[in-house]
Amino acid sequence: MLTAGMFAFAAMHAVDAMRRSMLTARGVLACMALLACTAGQAGEVEVLHYWTSGGEAKSLAELKSMMTNRGHSWKDFTVTGGGGQNAMVVLKQRVLGGTAPAAALIKGPSIQEWANLNVLTNLDAMAAFEKWDNLLPKVIADQMKHKGHYVAVPVNVHRVNWLWANSAVLNKAGVTALPTTYDAFFAAADKIKAAGFIPIAHGGQDWQDFTVFESVVLGVGGAAFYNSALVQLDKRALTSDTMRQSLDVFRRLKSYVDDKAPGRDWNVATDMVIKGKAGFQFMGDWAKGEFLAAGQQPGVDFSCSAAPGTANAYTFNVDSFAMFQLKAWEAQKAQGYLAYLLMGQDFQEKFNLRKGSIPARLHMDMDKFDACAKASSKDFVAASKADTLVPSVAHGMAVSTAAQAALRAAVSEFWNNGKTTVDDAMAKLVLAAGYAAPGHRQGDQVDKQR
Ligand code: GAL
Repeated sequence: MLTAGMFAFAAMHAVDAMRRSMLTARGVLACMALLACTAGQAGEVEVLHYWTSGGEAKSLAELKSMMTNRGHSWKDFTVTGGGGQNAMVVLKQRVLGGTAPAAALIKGPSIQEWANLNVLTNLDAMAAFEKWDNLLPKVIADQMKHKGHYVAVPVNVHRVNWLWANSAVLNKAGVTALPTTYDAFFAAADKIKAAGFIPIAHGGQDWQDFTVFESVVLGVGGAAFYNSALVQLDKRALTSDTMRQSLDVFRRLKSYVDDKAPGRDWNVATDMVIKGKAGFQFMGDWAKGEFLAAGQQPGVDFSCSAAPGTANAYTFNVDSFAMFQLKAWEAQKAQGYLAYLLMGQDFQEKFNLRKGSIPARLHMDMDKFDACAKASSKDFVAASKADTLVPSVAHGMAVSTAAQAALRAAVSEFWNNGKTTVDDAMAKLVLAAGYAAPGHRQGDQVDKQR
């Protein structure tokens, strides 16, 4: 129920928005109506996501309670399989069948792919009403727009190039410092192995393999090389000595992973570090959500540090919800309120405290966040200034869905098949980049899927 005070707030806000952004009266009224909600007018939002692990579920619970507290009902459209590949297949069936959910966890360039199908709703009125352009880093605001119009709402910024470590395991193994280079990492991994622990906890999906691979490329080659090889998909970079070195390091990491990794979910791997069975995990900071859900504290039970060689760089992964066109007014109201909530300070704080990420919204009070999140927030700004802020390819922030799938497959084949040589892997990366197979029209881009 929108109290009189809140209605007045919305009215004042709306007038301000109209004056500033020349928002039409209709847009203002639409926003106010969307925010107004009486019990009889409550709607349902069905939201497609794949946040099924402990930390993910806890963070989403914050959103569900905010929606139900407003009288709306929430319907999970959950598709398991972290990393989201399965979810997108199911979503496409629903949308093409004319039964799209209110919102879906859709990120990066795939927002454009869905927007091109003309199935997403225009959020410009809400964005102007709430001044989103002033509240988001441009790199994020631009991702949420299609042809200049908002069609998605960002909920966080995950950093991907993290190395997580169990403090007790490292102490028992005599590892006294978190490794900042790969030489130091392999020395630490040897000590952990000698002490009887699994050096690296890792799972068995191709997005996990690529999550590790992209951190290695960033650490070995730096941000400029990362962008050239994995974002621009430049053939020379993909077949360079730096890529060769990156693949050598990547393969060497495999020897520190246990043989039960195939098929393992990412959060089960994180649990191996939480329980002190393994020393390290290369993973984005959604892993921190699992440590926190297990009651562990950073700096005490576990540590977060930049993956070796990446301390001055930041691989970003922004979770966002694209909003689909809906017919029923009640459903549109519930959807509008969802969009309003997602960018609100209250949700951005409560959700990210549990998700392990930092708010997408700028100028947030970070006092309640832990040292890992504060470091992430500081490093995000530093990396954007130093031009070392790079999009995560593993998590859909760059290249097309098709190219991402092909790149993931090429890297996982190299990771899983010891007989695949570095040259084979580079050739497959070049193919995945949409270039011709070696030997045919060498060097031409026959079909660069971007
Ligand atoms: C990422 C997503 C994160 C987390 C992770 C593991 O793609 O952005 O929020 O869910 O997958 O499932």
